Parts: sequence; C-alpha cells; structure tokens
Amino acid sequence: MAVVTSTTPSSGQTCLQIWWRRTTGSEMLRFNGGGHINHTIFCTNLSPNGGGEPQSELMEAIKRDFGSFQKMKEKMSSATVAVQGSGWGWLGFDKENGRLRIAACANQDPLQGTTGLIPLLGIDVWEHAYYLQYKNVRPDYVKAIWNIINWENINERFQAAKK
Ligand SMILES: [Fe+2]
Repeated sequence: MAVVTSTTPSSGQTCLQIWWRRTTGSEMLRFNGGGHINHTIFCTNLSPNGGGEPQSELMEAIKRDFGSFQKMKEKMSSATVAVQGSGWGWLGFDKENGRLRIAACANQDPLQGTTGLIPLLGIDVWEHAYYLQYKNVRPDYVKAIWNIINWENINERFQAAKK
C-alpha cells in the first residue's frame, strides 16, 4: 500500500500539511477529509491475526524512544484514553529528528496536518468505534485493541516514513 509522505520541493511541507492549511475555514471539508484519511490508516493498522510485538528496527526504535515496548503501549494508551470527547491517539514519526512520538488529536483532525508527525498507528476513540462491544468504557477498548494491532503494517509505514 502506498503511503503519502512525500514532500514538495518548494515548501518542504507534505501534501497533507498543504491540504490542511488550505482547508482553513472549511470545517466540513476538514471533518470529512480528515475522517477519510484517519480511517484509511486505521483499517490497515488492524488485523484479526494481529497483536504480539513489532520486529527488528521498529522495536529497536520503540525501545530507544520510550524505554520499552510496554512503556510505549502505556504512554499511548494513556494519551488515547485521555482524549476529551471524540478523537484519535497516535504513534507518529518525527522526520525532523528521526524519533517516534505519541500524540492525540481532537475530532477528525489528521495527525500529519496538525502536528507534522507521520502517522504510523492510530486508535479511533470516537464512541462509534467501541460502543457496541465496550459501551462507554473506553479504557477497556484501548486495552483490548493491542491484541489486533497489525505490526507488519506499522513497520511498513515506519520504513516508508524514514525514507
Ligand atoms: Fe471512527
């Protein structure tokens, strides 16, 4: 799957950052466009055969930037559960310094447009993502989602983001 991370030679901004800037004032465009971007990533981040731990370079980067895989999961889970209202928790790649970072975004604001981080793994915490199975208990949903994370996909995104 192609991942959009290219930059334009003139501004150094990604296509998504340019799109985000140019849609200022159009909340509907941002909401629907952002929702499409976020869910497209989310769908590939999950797999019925997922879970476990990432391999090789991605695991090394997680250990370097968070101390351990467990600490990264805890930090991302906390940030995601703490989103006020509806939004997303993210594991992103900071191309400026080559580091992984955790971030949270409100509503359907896309990670790259709002923070510049390249999205690797997103967790949807709009209530529609978990209400049927978990009612309003967001922490249980976030705890369980690690069992279906498709680390191969996240590793592919990580490799593409580093280029
Ligand atoms: Fe959603």
